[in-house]
This record gives sequence, C-alpha cells and structure tokens, in this order.
Amino acid sequence: MGSRETWATRLGFILAAIGSAVGLGNIWRFPFITAESGGAAFLVVYLLLVAFIGLPVMLVEFVIGRESKQNVVDAFPAIGYGNWKAIGVIGSITGFIILSYYSVVGGWVIQYIFGSLTGAYTGSAEAYFGQVSSGLNTAGFDLLFILLVAGVVGFGVRDGLERAAKLLVPSVVGLMLFLAVYAATLPGAAEGYAYYLSPNLATLRSDALAILPAAAGQAFFTLSTGVGVMITYGSYLDEDRSLLRDGFVIMLADTCIAVLAGLIVFPVFFAQGIAPGDGGIGATFVSLAGAFTTLPGGRLVGTVFFVILLLAALTSAFSILEVIVSFIIDTTGSARSYATAGSVAGIFIVGLPTAFDLQYLTVYDAIANNVLLLLGGLLLALFGGWVYATDAITEFSKGLTSPQFIPKLWIWVLRVPVVVVLSYVLYQNIVDVIQTIQTSLL
Ligand code: TRP
Repeated sequence: MGSRETWATRLGFILAAIGSAVGLGNIWRFPFITAESGGAAFLVVYLLLVAFIGLPVMLVEFVIGRESKQNVVDAFPAIGYGNWKAIGVIGSITGFIILSYYSVVGGWVIQYIFGSLTGAYTGSAEAYFGQVSSGLNTAGFDLLFILLVAGVVGFGVRDGLERAAKLLVPSVVGLMLFLAVYAATLPGAAEGYAYYLSPNLATLRSDALAILPAAAGQAFFTLSTGVGVMITYGSYLDEDRSLLRDGFVIMLADTCIAVLAGLIVFPVFFAQGIAPGDGGIGATFVSLAGAFTTLPGGRLVGTVFFVILLLAALTSAFSILEVIVSFIIDTTGSARSYATAGSVAGIFIVGLPTAFDLQYLTVYDAIANNVLLLLGGLLLALFGGWVYATDAITEFSKGLTSPQFIPKLWIWVLRVPVVVVLSYVLYQNIVDVIQTIQTSLL
C-alpha cells in the first residue's frame, strides 16, 4: 500500500465533513420529518439529540479514524480490537444501502432543476412528482447522479473531495441565505415561523417519548454518523487538531443549515396555505414545486432551490462512497478508479427497485436509517464508552486544549445516556419497521 493521503488543510477537512453532513437530510428530510412530528416540539428534541447523542458518537468515529488511519473495517484490528470489525462491516452495508436510494432522490432533484427551468411542473405539481419519482427516467437520472459522485471520488481526497467541498459548500450556504431572505418577504412568513419556532410546552411534555425515535434517526442521518463516514474522514487527519472543536463546528454548521432550510420551507408552505405534515417522502417536492409555480419569481427561485439541493446531496454522497471505496482500495489494493467503478455499479443495481416503486424507497429508508444506522451508533457508543475508553481518551486528548474533565465527561455520556436512549429508540424502530414492511410490501 502506498502512503495514505491526508487532507491538505484543516479548512478543507472541515468543509468536506460539513459537506457530508449537510445534504438531502437537512433540506428535504428535516422539514418533512419536522412537519410530520409536530413542528417546534420536534425541533427541540432533535437539537438535544444532535448535541448529546449524535456529537459524542461522531467523536468516537473521529478518534477511531485518526488513531487507526484505516478504512472502516480495518480500523478496528489496527487499534487492537479486531473483534469489533463487525461495526465496520455493518457500517459499509448501511452506507451502501443509503447511497443506493439517496442517489435515486438525487436523480429526482436533477429532474426538478430541469422542471423548474422549463416550467414543466406548473399546474401539476402532484403529477410531475409521480412522473419524476418512478420509472425508467428515474433510473436514468439516478445513474447520472451516481456518475457525478463517482467522478469526484475517483479523483481522491485532495483533488476530489476537498476541492469539491471548498467550492460547493460555500455555494450552498450563500444560495440558501438568499432564499431565506426571499422567504421572509412572503405573506405567510410570520405564520410559518410561528409553527416552526414556538414550541408548545404541553405537546413537548406529552409527546417527547413519541418524538424520540424519529428525532434520533434524523440526528444520526444528518450528522452522517453511524456508518463510519467520520472514521474514514478522520483517517486522513493529522494528530494536531482538536477533534472536539472540529466536531463541534461541524455539528453547529449542520444544525444551522437545517434550521435555515426550515426558515425557507415553512414560510413557503404557509404562503401557499399548504398544511405542513401532509405527506411523507414526496412532501417537500410536491408542496414546494406547487408553491414555486405561483410565487413571484417562482421559476428562478425554484431553480436555485433545486440546485442547492443537488450540490448539498452531492457532497454527502461523496462521503458515503468514499467509505466503500477506501475499504476496497485498502483490502484489494486495486486502483481508486476501479474501486470506484465497481462500487457504483453495485450501488446502482441495489437501488434499482427504489427507482421503480416509492414503497421500496420508504422501506429502504426505514431499514437503513431507522434501524441499521442507529444500530451502528449504539455499537460505536458501547465500543467507545466501555471497551476502547482508555485509549479513546488518550487519542481524543491530542490537540485538545480544553479542561481535563471533558474527555471523561464524553466517555460517561457515551456509557449511559447514549446507550440507553439508542437502545430504547432502536427497539421502537424495529417494531415500526416490521409494520412498515408489512403494510408497504406484503
Ligand atoms: N448527512 C447527509 C444528509 O443529511 C447524508 C449522509 C451522508 C449520511 N453520509 C452519511 C447519512 C452517512 C448517514 C450516514 O443528507
């Protein structure tokens, strides 16, 4: 094996990790999950979970990655815990499944860019979604999206991932700020903000436990934790950075962008008199497209919106593919180009059912996101908190300038609250997924 690549700059690494975190999860999944799960009350639970459950697990991933300098699977033997390799295997499989349907949604986004430019969805937002979301065209655009992702990952860490992130992440943020200002000028803006931002304490108290499973799934998905993306990205890091500070910055940026997406989407919904929460997976697409056809400057705004979504989706998809590609390069010694081509072929094939039937997409999402991702998170927390703790503290402390109690606090958060919450949520979600499969497919 040749010498392993590293990030060229700290900023490059942070932007790539932010690019991974910020994606369809923030702009497409977050608003509709928030709407389905009760608006502001959900937002509160979600923010708590991101900070106290998601971030600690993300830090376990960084520590494993930086100490081992290996891909997700070989990382475990490299730090002396070969038995825990299963985490890497489960993670790679989860990443594979996620990318297979993530690319399908990425393909929808490309079609919506064209639809906005040409006005194809004017007057028929519902019908357009139906046309875009399943069929041969869906598979074709799915493939196009995957090829774009492969194109960048094929160039490697510095020339591919880092360079793309430096260009794309700032573009996403700039364009989103522009749209948030636009949304603020719409007539329904005040109502949208009220729904989104003023939590009803009574709902919060009565529904907190019910909100928990969806909020936990979303927290892991949005931070890209649970499959080893951050192990892989951490493996290209040098020792002199504060992982805590980097993790915190990444979490903060991801959260701000999700909140910003809500500040765009909810005013647009309310301006159109659309009830948030009607709708599942297609909600963001159908309602927003409907809104863009009637709002002032809607075509342009729609185009900008879907371009943002595409850029954000690409930088996330890079990170998932990189997990799989780095594993293949390290284990087979094959060239990056072959490893990339082979993986995307497999991913495309596995994702095909979801391009032809939305019910499969729902099921893939439920299994990967609500079960496997959280299982990965739980195993990482158990491993980091109970097995690897002493070495983890040593590695975590490198480059750290904050007080000594922080590393210990981190371990204790992993040991008890993270493990308890994730076990509870995982159990709930498994019960749920079995129901989803029964109702969707059988
Ligand atoms: N975080 C990304 C988003 O919000 C999706 C993503 C990228 C992801 N890498 C991941 C999700 C790894 C789970 C695991 O769109």
